[in-house]
Amino acid sequence: MRGWMGKFRTLALFGALTLILSGCGVDNLSALKPKGYGAELLLDLMMISIAIMIFVFVIVMAIYAFVLIRYRQKKGQENVIPKQTEGNKALEVIWTVIPIILLLVLAVPTVQATFDLADQSSQEDESAMTIEVTGNQYWWHFNYPKEEIAISQEMYIPTGERVYLNLKSSDVIHSFWLPSIAGKMDTNPGENMNTMYLEAYEEGVYWGHCAELCGPSHSLMDFRVVAVSPDKFEQWKEDMQNVDPEATPETTSAQEGQELFNNNCMSCHAIGGSSAGVGPNLTNFGNREKLAGIMEPSKENLVNWIVNPNEYKPGNNMPANIVGEEEASKIADYLLQLKHSDVGDDVPTRNTDE
Ligand code: CUA
Repeated sequence: MRGWMGKFRTLALFGALTLILSGCGVDNLSALKPKGYGAELLLDLMMISIAIMIFVFVIVMAIYAFVLIRYRQKKGQENVIPKQTEGNKALEVIWTVIPIILLLVLAVPTVQATFDLADQSSQEDESAMTIEVTGNQYWWHFNYPKEEIAISQEMYIPTGERVYLNLKSSDVIHSFWLPSIAGKMDTNPGENMNTMYLEAYEEGVYWGHCAELCGPSHSLMDFRVVAVSPDKFEQWKEDMQNVDPEATPETTSAQEGQELFNNNCMSCHAIGGSSAGVGPNLTNFGNREKLAGIMEPSKENLVNWIVNPNEYKPGNNMPANIVGEEEASKIADYLLQLKHSDVGDDVPTRNTDE
């Protein structure tokens, strides 16, 4: 009786865990809910693999159950040794050929998908868009060379188009991973550039993570990709190209913050322009969904971040206490009003955790 209860409990626990864990998949961060071409291709491959595994499992289990029942030791035959079959050629051939066929069934679409996902042949086309992605400890930079736009942490792309990425790193190896739109690609330091492309089907804010252990804050190296319709993207492009970094903010506090920022922060950061700095480019900072990729964009969080960034992202390169709390508060006022474009603010999954 106790034994059965124990088994039941284990089963119930597994059942509950399955239920709870299945809720962990966030819509815009799930390879199982593809919203882009690459992700869809990869899910198809996963499904083929799982189907083959289930097929093999069922057949093996059926044979196992059959043998278990059919060849049980019967009463009165305890000392009978059954007929031994060794080196049965037919059986050897069957269980060698079947796995080869299964591997071929897996290999053909896998190789096809590998070439398909590496196809950059249209990257040089007049209309094609390329974004240069740079991984840094622990933030992402996105450079649009043709459009002369630079932005960090949140990449904007048009839906329904292939956007080509040239990926590299400024320090150690990182990995650009955008599960719901495409796969994953390493960013390497030095000359070894990697490439991939994104093709988003629908508007949304998609979450990305660094997928290569790169230091103490590796797990905090998040980014966002905002996919908007081609029309909205054109608008965003125009908005970003017209950013005036010198524009005077409305409030006195933000004006003072601007001066403090220019004096203390500009050697690493930039606003507007088309180049990457030592630190993230803060254009459109006020529109970001997250602060430093991970925190809610409240003023309190920003002030705490400016004063002591290492508390939130250990090992990051931004020095602490460049300014005091009072000055940080003014700088925060300045940064949070940097809303150069509201394109993308109304996409379906903006500012939700689902
Ligand atoms: Cu960058 Cu992990």
